[in-house]
Amino acid sequence: MIIAVDGPAASGKGTIAAALARHFGLPYLDTGLLYRAVGRAVADHIDAPDIEARAVEAASCIDPDTIDPEALLGADTGVLASRIAVFPGVRAALFAFQHDFARLPAGAVLDGRDIGTTIAPNADAKLFIVADAGVRAERRARQLESRGIVVDRAQMRAEIEARDARDAAAPHGGFRPAADAVLLDTTNLDIEAAIKAAIAQVEAAMVRKAAGPD
Ligand code: C5P
Repeated sequence: MIIAVDGPAASGKGTIAAALARHFGLPYLDTGLLYRAVGRAVADHIDAPDIEARAVEAASCIDPDTIDPEALLGADTGVLASRIAVFPGVRAALFAFQHDFARLPAGAVLDGRDIGTTIAPNADAKLFIVADAGVRAERRARQLESRGIVVDRAQMRAEIEARDARDAAAPHGGFRPAADAVLLDTTNLDIEAAIKAAIAQVEAAMVRKAAGPD
C-alpha cells in the first residue's frame, strides 16, 4: 500500500503521515527533509548568482541516510528549502530517491507537496492536509518551543505565509491536491482527531480500491 500525504507548511501532514505509517506498519519518508537538507547545505550562498547550480549540485550529493531531522527543524531552514525547491534541477535530482522509496515492496507513506501528483501518482490513498495559516503558525511555534527553540510568533506567521506564496508559485504552477486526493482540514481538529480522520480516509480509499473502478 502506498499512501501520499501532501499539504502546506505546518498543516500537520508530517505528524499524520508518521502516525499512518505506524498504524499500517509501513516505512515512512518525510520528503521535506530532503529539500531542507539541500537548503541548509547551500545556506551560505543562498543569495549568490550561481545558487541554482550550487543547489542542484548539493541535491545530487545528498545522502538521505545521513540527514539529521532535528538539525533541520527551524523555520529558517524551511524558508531555505522553499527557495531551492523552485529549481527544476533540484527537484529532478531528488526525484529518483523518492520515487524508489514509494515503490518499496513493503509499501510506503510519503509526505510532501507533490507526492500524490508527481512522486507517486498511482498511490492507493492520497490525502491533502490543510489548515488555516494562523493555526499552522501557532502549531509550528509550539512544536519548536517544545524543543527549547525561542520563537517570534509574528515572524513565524510571516515565514509560513512567505513559504505558502513561494510554494504556490512553484515551477510547475504550484502545488495542488491530486484530482483524486481527499482534502482533510485540520484547523479545528486536535492531533488525535486528525489522525483518526486520516486513518478513516485511508481505510475508505482501500475499500473503494478493492471495489474497483466506478
Ligand atoms: O514539508 P516541509 O515544511 O519540511 O518542506 C520544506 C519546503 O520544502 C517546502 O516549503 C517546499 O518548498 C519544499 N518541498 C517541496 N516538495 C516536497 C517537500 C517539500 O518542494 N515534496
